[in-house]
Amino acid sequence: MRFSAPTLFFASLFASSLAMAQVPEIFKGADLKIGEKLIAENKCSQCHALKWADDGKAIYRPKGRINTPAALVSMVEKCSSELNLSIFPEEVTAIAAVLNRDHYRFTK
Ligand code: HEC
Repeated sequence: MRFSAPTLFFASLFASSLAMAQVPEIFKGADLKIGEKLIAENKCSQCHALKWADDGKAIYRPKGRINTPAALVSMVEKCSSELNLSIFPEEVTAIAAVLNRDHYRFTK
């Protein structure tokens, strides 16, 4: 069986969109190094650990209320304003992208 050129074209388009689908649109190009640094520097886990008796990571519940990348970003915003951090939106996105990579694993 021979595939027509358009079929092959759409098949490859589909394959490449699958490969890119691993990271939600808003986290594409996020600076993960900066995100990791901000999470460590701002002691996010220390505060979470006060309320959750563990290392502070159990708070990240992918199956909970935070069920979209956008919800994750706004939660990070909320928490960082609680710290009176004046951070840029890109930095909020970078933090959220790291949490997504390590905990939430949203793909879109
Ligand atoms: C002053 C204490 C405090 C600090 C500091 C803090 N958080 Fe939080 N964070 C909370 C509390 C309390 C909740 C739970 C809120 C709720 O469930 O209503 C929470 C929840 C979250 C959640 C949602 C977890 C989930 O899946 O439901 C995320 C994501 C988060 N924080 C990220 C961060 C990040 C990133 C930082 C560091 C920049 C940070 N937090 C610093 C208190 C804090």
